[in-house]
Amino acid sequence: MPAILPFKREMADDVAGLMHDAFVEHRSSSPRMLLSPPDEWTPVEELAVVLGGDTVCPEASFVATEGGRAVSAAIATSGEGGAQWWRITTDPACRRSGLASSCMEAGESAMRDAGQQIIATGAVVDSRWTAAGALLSSRGYSPDEPEKRNITMRLDEWVPRDVAFPDGYELATLREDDVPEWSEVKSRIFGWQSEPEWFLNRFMSRPDYDPSGWLVVRHEGSIVGISGVLAIRLDRDPERLHGAQIEYVGVLDEHRGRKLGRLLVTECLNWAYGRDSLPVILLTQPFRVPAVTLYESLGFRTLCAWQSYVKPLQ
Ligand SMILES: CC(C)(COP(=O)(O)OP(=O)(O)OC[C@H]1O[C@@H](n2cnc3c(N)ncnc32)[C@H](O)[C@@H]1OP(=O)(O)O)[C@@H](O)C(=O)NCCC(=O)NCCS
Repeated sequence: MPAILPFKREMADDVAGLMHDAFVEHRSSSPRMLLSPPDEWTPVEELAVVLGGDTVCPEASFVATEGGRAVSAAIATSGEGGAQWWRITTDPACRRSGLASSCMEAGESAMRDAGQQIIATGAVVDSRWTAAGALLSSRGYSPDEPEKRNITMRLDEWVPRDVAFPDGYELATLREDDVPEWSEVKSRIFGWQSEPEWFLNRFMSRPDYDPSGWLVVRHEGSIVGISGVLAIRLDRDPERLHGAQIEYVGVLDEHRGRKLGRLLVTECLNWAYGRDSLPVILLTQPFRVPAVTLYESLGFRTLCAWQSYVKPLQ
């Protein structure tokens, strides 16, 4: 029977190897976003650096070992609200024997003793990882704010369509001079403020940024609708990370219901098709009912949801 031991930094390489091998199966699933490579593809050396560093919370992290080798681990990192789960993993040959659950139980108990009220999974849990969801549910965790969870939607096929905007509305590509106005409109639509620098850092400075994929709809000279799309091929995994990602589709309240959203997304899809960049992926949240309905009506299907789980400890 494996022993459940507190995590020590000397175990970093061993646990990194375990994590790397245990997450291999996730690599075959379609990425849930294209802008940055998903965490589970992290090379073993990068995992070892994190495990040997200060972000790990050793007091709350436990490892099951057998014959001097790690076979399961629940590793927590220190966050603002205390420790949170970073990676929980079991060697495929040792699964379904309660090892991950025992490591988590030891960690939860340590956190409870330290006075922590609630424990969350820091790294988001993908709905396609059925074993992870089942483990968390069986230990009393539940999804945090389910309506606000991220969902990845994906469209594989597209036949280009003509786009005609209603009278009084004009389509244009975003110019650098427009970024301050774009930022203001984006802030009004999405309810969170960002400065023009945010757009420059997040999108414009990317090597795959192409201004022709960023559209604005103008009415009486002012921007009233926005959308963006990037064709992405990352060096890190050029075989798999290929496609387009739609970003920041929105229409100001007073101009909704006039097909502007549908026309903007249609233009994005025509653009991706023209650059041989299917599938098209986008991230949204279930509470955005108009958006999800629109995407579904164009052929997008939900690929997965990903979110944190939480459990009260006291
Ligand atoms: C999503 C959004 C861009 C739609 O803009 P819009 O110009 O009003 O949408 P359209 O007039 O083009 O509607 C197109 C389709 O969207 C869906 N839709 C639009 N409003 C809807 C609503 N209130 N309820 C349900 N479905 C709705 C319908 O499928 C509609 O097609 P239909 O009119 O043939 O039934 C707009 O509601 C918005 O800006 N929302 C806030 C920002 C946001 O959530 N963006 C998405 C981020 S991922």
